[in-house]
Amino acid sequence: MSAAYPRDVSRVIAIDGPAGSGKSSVSREVARRLGVQYLDTGAIYRALTWAVLERGVDPTDGGAVLEVAGAVTITSGTDPMNPTITVDGVDVSAPIRGDDVTAAVSAVSAVPEVRARLVALQRERVASATSGIVVEGRDIGTVVLPDAQVKVFLTASPAVRAQRRATQDERERDLVRDVQETESALRARDAFDSSRTVSPLAAAEDAIVLDASNMDFDQVVARIVELVGTVR
Ligand code: DC
Repeated sequence: MSAAYPRDVSRVIAIDGPAGSGKSSVSREVARRLGVQYLDTGAIYRALTWAVLERGVDPTDGGAVLEVAGAVTITSGTDPMNPTITVDGVDVSAPIRGDDVTAAVSAVSAVPEVRARLVALQRERVASATSGIVVEGRDIGTVVLPDAQVKVFLTASPAVRAQRRATQDERERDLVRDVQETESALRARDAFDSSRTVSPLAAAEDAIVLDASNMDFDQVVARIVELVGTVR
């Protein structure tokens, strides 16, 4: 067992899946119910993307992005009730959800050396977890924590994911979105994230694939909590 895992490894829960699958809210609720910590790795890629844009760096210039990655300190708070993310001490939890960051994050997260650096950061955070931890992302079960005891690949049809994303944006950010446009943007980001050479979005061979198209939030959470129960 590598040093990347807290002592109670049965409580390392990897939740991967595409955008809009409900991963974030599900992961936070699972962590809350189990009384463990929570790490949103997408927020880390977004935080770096925010720093890149903030400095006026071209997000498609891999070398320049890597330089920014080496120059900033990204810190994630792991309380599922209040997950925080800072860049050099600045709270970026709101701006990392902006459309400018969302549009640039796939390019930033496709740079292999950038991923290596951020994966190391994620493993450090997991290793310092005092109990268990729910880690959500795209490559957690395949690359970041391949020894995680519970691996879930959470997905849903593009239409369902687009509808959920649009509803969530309207509720949380007062943003009215065209569902069809949202679906095209989701499909484009999925295609990019799934076809990149390093750590493409994919279910681990030993992951449980949960298609949440016809499941509600509570059913998905209950299923994952039940899965965790089976490995205790
Ligand atoms: O989950 P999210 O939408 O906040 O993730 C933002 C982007 O970060 C997503 O387009 C892909 C990338 N990402 C990644 O490459 N690997 C991860 N473990 C998490 C996110």
